[in-house]
Amino acid sequence: MKFFIDTANLQEIKEAHALGVLDGVTTNPSLMAKEGITGKNNIMSHYKAICDLVDGDVSAEVIATDFEGIVREGEELIEIDDKIVVKVPMIQDGVKALKYFSGKGIRTNCTLIFTAGQALLAAKAGATYVSPFVGRLDDISTDGIALIEQILTIYRVYGYETQVLAASIRHPMHIIQCAELGADVMTGPLSAILALLKHPLTDSGLEKFLADYKKGNS
Ligand code: E4P
Repeated sequence: MKFFIDTANLQEIKEAHALGVLDGVTTNPSLMAKEGITGKNNIMSHYKAICDLVDGDVSAEVIATDFEGIVREGEELIEIDDKIVVKVPMIQDGVKALKYFSGKGIRTNCTLIFTAGQALLAAKAGATYVSPFVGRLDDISTDGIALIEQILTIYRVYGYETQVLAASIRHPMHIIQCAELGADVMTGPLSAILALLKHPLTDSGLEKFLADYKKGNS
């Protein structure tokens, strides 16, 4: 399973990268705004700064919602760095743009996926990644993990190469459940990634080992 970090915060990206398990980064306009990154030039140079920090794919989202605009923005975004994956919303012109980009060999991440039907359309249009939002579905009392399972089943049945990128991950159990199902990628905050390494018995066990070592070596 690939681990992407879902942030535009350079410090968090550095920390996740230093852990040695980071495979890429996803961003969205809200995450960029959270970091105070505004204006086209600043946004473009921030994407470049992110690309310079990581070895894997970096999803950069278009703002346009019409076909020509999505294509124009996507073509500008891929000029920033080879790591850029164009993030396209699941709307009618977005599907057309996914098809256009896949024909040109431009990698895409179809975002805002909330149903298996949307994921099926994105795969047919040749999306590289599809991003079902697990946490946002859970927030409205709908089973986000069940959607991951449904999409994986459909993709396996037809042999679609589109990778399932479980997004809107909120906590470590989301990561584990997605991993059990075989999701190709998960993208989550640093807190969810770091929470995977925590267990109280690990902490108390280590404390005891160190105390016993000290007793025998003092
Ligand atoms: C990433 O690609 C998505 O934009 C992101 O995971 C959404 O997460 P949120 O629901 O926590 O905002």
